[in-house]
This record gives sequence, structure tokens and C-alpha cells, in this order.
Amino acid sequence: MLKAVILIGSPQKGTRFRPLSLEIPKPLFPIAGHPILYHLIESCARLRELREILLIGCYQPNEALSRFIANVQQTFHISIRYLQEYASLGTGGGIYHFRDIIKSNVSDKDVFFVINGDICADLPLVEMLQFHRENVGDKGFTILGTEATEKQSTNYGCIAWDKETHEVKHYVEKPSTFVSTTINCGVYLFSKTIFQILSETYRNNQQIYNETTSSFPSYDVGFARENIRLEKDVLSKLGGTGQLYVFPMGNRFWTAIKNPGSVIYANRHYLEIYRMYHPERLAAQVNPNSPTIIGDVFIHPTACVDPTAVLGPNVSIGQDVTIGYGVRVRESIILGSCVLQDHCCVLYSIIAWNSTIGPWSRVEGTPNDPDPNRQFSKIEKDSLFHDGKLHPSITVIGNNVSIPGEVVVLNAIVLPHKELDSSSKNQIIL
Ligand code: GDD
Ligand code: GTP
Repeated sequence: MLKAVILIGSPQKGTRFRPLSLEIPKPLFPIAGHPILYHLIESCARLRELREILLIGCYQPNEALSRFIANVQQTFHISIRYLQEYASLGTGGGIYHFRDIIKSNVSDKDVFFVINGDICADLPLVEMLQFHRENVGDKGFTILGTEATEKQSTNYGCIAWDKETHEVKHYVEKPSTFVSTTINCGVYLFSKTIFQILSETYRNNQQIYNETTSSFPSYDVGFARENIRLEKDVLSKLGGTGQLYVFPMGNRFWTAIKNPGSVIYANRHYLEIYRMYHPERLAAQVNPNSPTIIGDVFIHPTACVDPTAVLGPNVSIGQDVTIGYGVRVRESIILGSCVLQDHCCVLYSIIAWNSTIGPWSRVEGTPNDPDPNRQFSKIEKDSLFHDGKLHPSITVIGNNVSIPGEVVVLNAIVLPHKELDSSSKNQIIL
């Protein structure tokens, strides 16, 4: 039986993603009209043999997550279960903790996917499974790889591999110096043998934990006893053993979702994927009385858009949004129940739920796209500040914010529940 495990993290994660993850868990944040997790599940659903998806995370069960699970189960006809860790157990600890559930109905010949829940990509899961079956077999593991620039590669897990056999020779997680331009996409195919390795790692870690806490009883080790880092504790040790192989995904779109800039980038690519595979999801200019649509635009069927508005390219409009006369939106995400009043203009921005932009106001951000002149360039994972100043970036308007008419909001981050009374530039508004 084929299964997939998606690691959805915990509320402590996703800090660079605030204020957008203050309202809902980051994996449920909508991009191109659907949550990040929905896109991953949709990729999994293309595996015709797939029977079950297990979401492992550390969120308290909440209504948004339960409703989401109920909806996607119906849409994709796959069993989806949420398994909650009692504490953050790391990228490997949750898999080990829930090993009996993962292993049930999985034979020694079967494999299962493990996918990081904070990536957006055109995932080649069908091809990866085929590669694994043909080249790796029961005892080995396959990791999905993509290319990055030399400089950016060190922000990810780096994979040095044999281009003929695809065997991973070295794996180094976020190295301090350059190792390889092939990076870990956060997608793996494991057989049940991984549990033996996790079990040894668990025992080793316990020993280190016990030695540390008995020598320094008041020392706070900062993580749960059962914590296992899949990358550092497991993958690093598998390099050169003949057990780990890489499947390169070529030029297909892939990004990790770390900051709001990566959301705008992913939005554009998911809309492009809709155009190729699901054009019915995109807005079409049906008649002269419909708004002007430029390029790829998603409009939720419940949104109310004035015919004089001009939307696109790369715009997603959420549920119950109202868009007034002469509004212009480009390269942006407008989330549920927002109101864009007459003649306002929104560029390179994310407007979170229930916010209002007043008439003739301009909300604008600076794109953080990967350098188009460098092949395989990825989104910079920089922190918000650079030399003590806010880095020009996507403008993010938190939920329930009210922006008055005739102001300019440029490269700003506005926290939820604010009423702005004037223009703002390069600021975080608390
Ligand atoms: N369930 C659970 N429990 N999930 C977790 C935990 C945990 O304690 N910690 C992290 N995760 C999930 C996160 O939600 C995320 O989806 C994924 O595991 C990766 O977690 P990070 O710790 O944020 O790692 P990273 O993104 O910096 O790096 C990882 O992903 C890169 C690709 O995006 C590594 O796997 C890198 O090697 C890789 O290149
Ligand atoms: P059915 O609705 O059951 O026919 O599913 P289907 O996926 O075969 O049909 P669809 O017309 O949606 O897709 C046609 C082909 O495109 C199939 O080979 C899919 O695997 C592939 N495909 C569909 N959506 C995507 C996508 O988002 N990305 C990629 N890479 N391939 C896709």
C-alpha cells in the first residue's frame, strides 16, 4: 500500500511568515486560491496507487484543520489523517513516533513518501516513484533534488552525487561552505528499513540527552527527548553508504515557503500550472461586462468584481471579496472578505482576510523574485532587516486592517487589527 506523510510543523515554526501565520497554520495559507497543503495533496493524488496521507504536526486540533481535512478527503477520495505530536519532535521524530501507524498495511516491498509541508512545487511524484522502483529498489531511499546557485545552496540540504548512478556520496545540511548546487527539495521515498535507522538514531540521541542532562541537570537542551533531525541525524549518515539516491527534478518549479515574497512567487507558478492542466480554474474574459483579465488570474466564484476593474497578471482573489470601480490589482493575493474600494491599486502585495483598502489608495510592495539572470536562482531567505533597515519587500496587510482613502502604503508590513490613518513607507506597523 502506498502512503504519503506530510510534515506540517508546529505553531513555533513559520516565524518569518508572520503576520500571515498568526490566524491559521502556515500550511493552510491559500496560494492561487487553495491552501499550500491542498496543492501538495493534489500532487499526491496523482499517484493512482496512493491510499492514505498522514499529516504529522504539532498543532492543537483546530476547526480550520479539521474542516480542511474533511473537504480534501471528499475532493480527492483519499483517506487523510492528522497525527499530533505531543511536542515538536523534529523532521524525523514524528515519523519515528508514529511508526506503527505509518507501517500498518505497508509491506517490505512498499515505499512511502515523506514531504515537507512548507514547499510549493510542480512535484514529479509519479516519475520519482518510477525512478525509485527501476533504479533503487526495496532497500534504498530516494531524495528529490533541484538546482540552486552556489551561494544560495548553503541555505538548504546539499547533495553531492554520482551523475551516472545517482547515488548520494555526501549529504550536508545547510553547510557553511559550498558542497554542491544540488539541494534537498524536502521530498523523500523511504522503505520500512528507514525505521531501523531511526531506531538506532533514537537510541544514540537518548544517550547524548541523558549524558547532557545528568552532567548539567539545570541545562535546558531546548528540544524534546525524542527529537530526531531527519537531515542532520539520518541523511548525513547515509551519504556514501549506497543506500541514498537522488532524483533530480530538472527545471520544474520548486520553492520553499519561508517569507511572504515566496508566496507571491509560488502564486505565479501555481497559476501557470492551472493554465497548463486546469484552465477552467482561471478567470476568463467571458463578455464585455466582465472585468479586464490580464494573464493568469484566479477569482473565487463568490467574489464580486466590478466590470471596470483590471486584474492580473498573477492575481488570486479569495472568497467573498468585493472589488470596486476602476480597481487595479497585479501580482498580488487578496484573501477572503476583503474590500478594495473604488480606484485603489494593489501591486506585489498580500492583503489578508477582512481588510479594507480605501478609494484611490495605493498599496505596493517590491518583488523578491529569484534573480532572473542567474539560472537556478532561488528566493532569498533573508531576514526582514538589512543593516538595521527593513528590506524592501512584498507589502503585507494583516487581517482586519483598514487603510483609508488616498494614502500610499509602500514596502510595509501592517499587523492585524489596525486602522491606518496616513501613508507609510518601509515600515512595520505594529
Ligand atoms: N511534524 C513536524 N514536527 N514537522 C516539522 C518539525 C517538527 O518538529 N520541524 C519541522 N517540521 C516540518 C516543517 O513544517 C517543514 O515542513 C519541514 O519539516 C522542514 O522543516 P524546517 O525545520 O523548517 O527545515 P528547512 O525548511 O529549513 O530545511 C528543510 O527543507 C529544505 C527544503 O525546503 C531541510 O530538509 C533542507 O535540507 C531542505 O533543503
Ligand atoms: P482524471 O481527471 O482522473 O482523468 O485525472 P488526470 O490527472 O489523468 O487528468 P487531467 O486532465 O487532470 O491531467 C492530464 C495529465 O496531466 C495527467 O497525466 C496528469 O498526471 C497531468 N497533470 C494534471 N495536473 C497536473 C499538474 O498540476 N502538474 C503536472 N505536472 N501534471 C499534471
